[in-house]
Amino acid sequence: MQIIQTVAELRAWSREFHRSGKTVGLVPTMGALHEGHLSLVRTAKAACDGVAVSIFVNPTQFGPNEDFALYPRTFDADCTLLKAEGVNAVFAPAPEEIYQSGASTFVEVAGLSDRLDGASRPGHFRGVATVVAKLLIAAEPGRAFFGQKDAAQVAVLRRMTADLGLPVELVICPIVRERDGLAMSSRNRYLSAAERRQALVLHRALNAVDALVATGERSSEALIAAAHANFATEPSVRVDYIAAVDWATLEPVQEARPGTLIAVAAFVGTTRLIDNLVVE
Ligand code: PAJ
Repeated sequence: MQIIQTVAELRAWSREFHRSGKTVGLVPTMGALHEGHLSLVRTAKAACDGVAVSIFVNPTQFGPNEDFALYPRTFDADCTLLKAEGVNAVFAPAPEEIYQSGASTFVEVAGLSDRLDGASRPGHFRGVATVVAKLLIAAEPGRAFFGQKDAAQVAVLRRMTADLGLPVELVICPIVRERDGLAMSSRNRYLSAAERRQALVLHRALNAVDALVATGERSSEALIAAAHANFATEPSVRVDYIAAVDWATLEPVQEARPGTLIAVAAFVGTTRLIDNLVVE
């Protein structure tokens, strides 16, 4: 497994595959890898000849009062996991490699970037879209792999790649959960034992929504109310948003239909967690 630190080397690595008619997949991450990330890696390995995983804690997607400095960095353990998966290359650039001094170009997906997490985290999706555009331009993958866990991010990145005409297929992988239902996240390690129990309310609330949908209920208002009722049983958890939206536009819908995204975000202690389901 090659460890690559520069854009030039990453591009050369990718072009070597392309020269021999082979396909390249990219899995962008911020490291602190868990089974959710590894599920993306396995899907990429099954679909592509060469797989690169980027590990870059992207400063521009963190707000001034967020956890950039604290964000877990476990590079050696990450590399051990990726090597065991047969990953071909890890791209681990220094911040200066991605954001050169004087850089003043950003990718802004207007509208979408201000919805859901973008409403709570101003500037977050501008940072995400910018870094992912740079990674795609550097690695030139035919396919890039993302998790449904970050559903609003998926909407922003789909819009961005379509709008910029980037020649890449985005492959969206299902949410991987702990045995008790908590969606895996690098931020779960911030939770105390008590918070870890409280955090299950996100999944419980979505299960309640799912059960209601199964009875035929389609009114977003009723579905969102059911989720709120669940959160009320865990008063120490502060809801950030509960929304029923069109997954492409992130605009609220009155009636849920197949493809509608039901998304939740909540603070458990100081840790902000997200989860979602897509109506079938
Ligand atoms: P990160 O949070 O490290 O996540 C990397 C990828 O793993 C994302 O596509 C995310 O949706 C996916 N992922 C995380 N938890 C998952 C789970 N439980 N099940 C399935 N997939 C999961 O998302 C980012 O990094 C960054 O914003 C990034 C796209 C790398 C840009 O900096």
